[in-house]
Amino acid sequence: MQAIEVSHLIKKFGSLTALNDITFSVGKGETFGFLGPNGAGKTTTIRILTGVSRPTSGTATIFGHDIEHDTIAARQSMGIVSENSNVYDDLTAWQNMMFSAELYHVGRKEREKKAEELLKKFELYNRRNDKAHGFSKGMKRRLTLAMGLVNSPRLLFLDEPTSGLDVQSNIIIRDVVADLVLEGVTVFLTTHNIEEANVMCDRVAIINKGHIVAIDAPESLKKTIQSVQSIEVSFDHNSADQLDELSRLSVVNRAQKSGDKFKLYTEDPSEVINAVIAYANTHNLKVVSITTLGPSLEDVFIRLTGLQRTGERIHAID
Ligand SMILES: Nc1ncnc2c1ncn2[C@@H]1O[C@H](COP(=O)(O)OP(=O)(O)O)[C@@H](O)[C@H]1O
Ligand SMILES: [Mg+2]
Repeated sequence: MQAIEVSHLIKKFGSLTALNDITFSVGKGETFGFLGPNGAGKTTTIRILTGVSRPTSGTATIFGHDIEHDTIAARQSMGIVSENSNVYDDLTAWQNMMFSAELYHVGRKEREKKAEELLKKFELYNRRNDKAHGFSKGMKRRLTLAMGLVNSPRLLFLDEPTSGLDVQSNIIIRDVVADLVLEGVTVFLTTHNIEEANVMCDRVAIINKGHIVAIDAPESLKKTIQSVQSIEVSFDHNSADQLDELSRLSVVNRAQKSGDKFKLYTEDPSEVINAVIAYANTHNLKVVSITTLGPSLEDVFIRLTGLQRTGERIHAID
């Protein structure tokens, strides 16, 4: 039996089709990611899988229980962390935990043990008696996660778990999720962050405008576009014209600047290396680092979703 089985799910909002016939399954213990741009249908999928919203047609089962017709049984083993924090500002971190535990019918003794354990994991224990309204966005999100784990779920839904958070919160959240995975918890997460999908997920479904356009392990997805190669190079000093000059080197298809590095896309990496060295010599530059890279998950994502890159950012074409 699979943890999640979704068959021909369609969700319409009036004339808008938010989900257009999606089918996939998630095995027990798997970390499965839904990767897609804003408006792709990620939250809509989570809302249906957690019994918050009904599909227009199609079915979804959770550990064999139909989410529409057997909702209570299906929801029993779930932890849900939605996009917006559901922390009560006027309650302390500890009170929020107790409230959530009560909601999930966690026994009184178990409640306090679990709350202490989770608040420690999320590095909030020393703030447990402070009201949540003074917490940063990252702290609130960590508390939301702790609250979502209070009933020791076998299946955890995370909607954009680290979107817009500080680095410390990101690291804590990713570490806790990695520990849960080691304990056998199945994780379904959505993200628009390609690197997050790359590092956290066993398998990724790329979703765009309500369609799943690819579904596979990140490394397998990268292999499908092996022809995309690039050279990453950095110099001892940068000038405004470099990006333009590098992009005009022969055999460079496209050049991109990210941080202090340039990424040069090509079909012929060794030729580009020669050209870059020659360029450095004529411009009196020292090459600090130079590396050949295979396709990234970002390259796959762009290829499959038709999104376009402008400088370092990715923009949707509407
Ligand atoms: N309750 C709703 N009523 C009308 N349209 C909605 C509703 N919820 C979502 N949508 C639309 O469905 C599409 C998918 O939304 P959503 O699942 O939230 O995307 P994502 O989470 O991938 O950013 C969007 O076009 C969004 O505007
Ligand atoms: Mg969303």
